[in-house]
Amino acid sequence: MFYEPHKKNHGLAKSPFNSLIIPRPIGWISSIDNQGVFNLAPYSFFNAVCYQPPTVMFSAGVGSGSDGMKDTLRNIEANGEFVCNLATWENREQMNKTSANVPADADEIELAGLTAIASKLISVPRIAEAPVHLECRYIKSVDIPTGEKAGKFVMVLGEVIGVHIRDELITADGLIDVAKMRPIGRLGYDDYTCVNGDSIFSMERPT
Ligand SMILES: Cc1cc2nc3c(=O)[nH]c(=O)nc-3n(C[C@H](O)[C@H](O)[C@H](O)COP(=O)(O)O)c2cc1C
Repeated sequence: MFYEPHKKNHGLAKSPFNSLIIPRPIGWISSIDNQGVFNLAPYSFFNAVCYQPPTVMFSAGVGSGSDGMKDTLRNIEANGEFVCNLATWENREQMNKTSANVPADADEIELAGLTAIASKLISVPRIAEAPVHLECRYIKSVDIPTGEKAGKFVMVLGEVIGVHIRDELITADGLIDVAKMRPIGRLGYDDYTCVNGDSIFSMERPT
């Protein structure tokens, strides 16, 4: 089959787009608002952008607030800091809970029964239940051009200025034990995948 997304002519039960660029890592992003209220939400339009400086991106769609922004985007643009917490098999249910649409003054860390712990370099907290935390400094936002009124996405770029890794996930050889870490990724629909010992394979690059 062939379809043109702007014509919405795929003829399928649901748009297949989210089921084709998979699995997507999940940035479980904590931020803080001007009143000091903590915020936490998962974003799977999320990825690493480059090594130098280590940079990540995520993109936020329309939020339910009167300004049309998701809380995460509003907080980061206002305060310039955020943390990407790693979503794993162990914390998957709590990660999902924090995607609920709650008022901006609700603390999703508390609502999901999670533990906020201080970061080293920024004022935004990390989530103790996540084994990896990337402390990020906001670089800039990029509006994604859209031909439609609804559905505006904004991409946020952030520099990773501090990295926390749970010690037990580092092997004696100084590598990350990804099979033990069990990160989860987003597929389409309500589906996810989990990286574990069975799903990892290695290939050497040609010289
Ligand atoms: C696994 C997962 C991935 C998500 N990815 C995104 C995303 O990339 N962009 C987005 O705008 N919303 C995404 N959402 C929905 C947001 O998490 C949800 O709208 C949340 O309420 C936003 O919270 P906030 O307003 O506190 O930022 C995702 C939800 C889940 C469960």
